[in-house]
Amino acid sequence: MANSIQIHGKNFVPYLSETAIKEKIKEMAAAISKDYAGKRPLFIGILNGAFMFASDLFKELTIEAEISFIKLASYSGTKSTGKVLTAIGLDADINGRHVIIIEDIVDTGKTLSSFLPQLEHQGPASIKLAALLTKPEARTHPITIDYLCFTIPNKFVVGYGLDYDSLGRNLKEIYQLKEE
Ligand code: XMP
Ligand code: MG
Repeated sequence: MANSIQIHGKNFVPYLSETAIKEKIKEMAAAISKDYAGKRPLFIGILNGAFMFASDLFKELTIEAEISFIKLASYSGTKSTGKVLTAIGLDADINGRHVIIIEDIVDTGKTLSSFLPQLEHQGPASIKLAALLTKPEARTHPITIDYLCFTIPNKFVVGYGLDYDSLGRNLKEIYQLKEE
């Protein structure tokens, strides 16, 4: 197992090994390949956090599939709309497509509960969610996760695409913030 590390002066302990992550992703890819055989699904990876997970998951698929990436940005709308979430880079026509969203972690569920209805609006044949991690204890907005690798406690994690203030994304393992 890897050693503890420091990022921006905070201590993180190894939590999910590279092997454990790879194993779970293989299982997920097999399940998706089985469910979507002949359907040519369109995967939409959410940047930045999901880039590594999306790449490893996509490599393990054994079916025809497409992939595209978007960034979700929130900006201040009018007084009545409040914060508005917008998808940057969604160039694919998802009308009639089987869409699978690839997300690194579902925390409060706020981001996806705002984004998924926007996608529904564009008339996809179906939308499913594949997430690497979920923190059910943090959930304030209910979200259905169709394909999931790990359920984790409500503690901050970094690595494997996830960052702590922009650092740590390159780590091969997932680390958990150490309670001091
Ligand atoms: P919500 O709360 O809308 O947010 O579900 C999901 C997004 O918040 C980020 N997030 C984290 N990033 N370690 C991280 O590096 C964490 O423990 C963590 N929890 C939430 C992440 O970008 C996710 O997409
Ligand atoms: Mg994210």
